[in-house]
Amino acid sequence: MISLQEVTPENFHRFKDPILEVEKSSFLSPWTIRAFEAETKRPVSQLWALLAGGKIGGYICFWIFANETHLMNIAVHPQRRKRGFGGCLLKKLMEASLSEGATKAWLEVRPSNVGARAFYKKAGFTEISRRPRYYRETNEDAIIMSLSLAPQDTGLRKLGYIWNVEHAA
Ligand SMILES: CC(C)(COP(=O)(O)OP(=O)(O)OC[C@H]1O[C@@H](n2cnc3c(N)ncnc32)[C@H](O)[C@@H]1OP(=O)(O)O)[C@@H](O)C(=O)NCCC(=O)NCCS
Repeated sequence: MISLQEVTPENFHRFKDPILEVEKSSFLSPWTIRAFEAETKRPVSQLWALLAGGKIGGYICFWIFANETHLMNIAVHPQRRKRGFGGCLLKKLMEASLSEGATKAWLEVRPSNVGARAFYKKAGFTEISRRPRYYRETNEDAIIMSLSLAPQDTGLRKLGYIWNVEHAA
């Protein structure tokens, strides 16, 4: 059974340890627990956890403001990738964005993160520009990707599972 739960200041204590575990196993420069907590309190921010079999399978954090959505963070537990969890989390971003009137989503990704770039591309994001030396610890550029948020413009429909979270397994 798969479900999505919004992480709020009230329930943060239940999610913080598993979120941090996934974060540390996913990134070179992981967010701290304080950074996640701050997102639960930031008015423009939404943090959602994906629960599968009662455990945290992954999470997504995004900001919606000025009719745009900025993907801040997404990760799936290393042992639970390639099962559609990431797509379910992106679906949540798209649903929330559409319901709040956002017309565009964008994100930054490392050129070396070939898997994430393929993941975003499959969901319909396209590479639009670069921010030079955006990642300070490696001096790596950021690739900026964007997506028009009309449902027909996303590649998520093609992924099959995406419009119903229950399809992910
Ligand atoms: C990127 C990430 C969130 C994807 O999560 P996921 O649950 O594995 O993604 P999904 O199973 O929903 O993948 C959907 C599609 O994206 C593509 N995709 C996902 N991971 C991929 C990879 N490593 N290589 C190539 N394509 C990939 C595939 O086309 C996949 O569909 P398929 O399995 O039918 O081929 C996950 O790999 C992750 O947590 N990575 C580490 C953290 C990270 O890099 N976050 C992004 C920072 S910008």
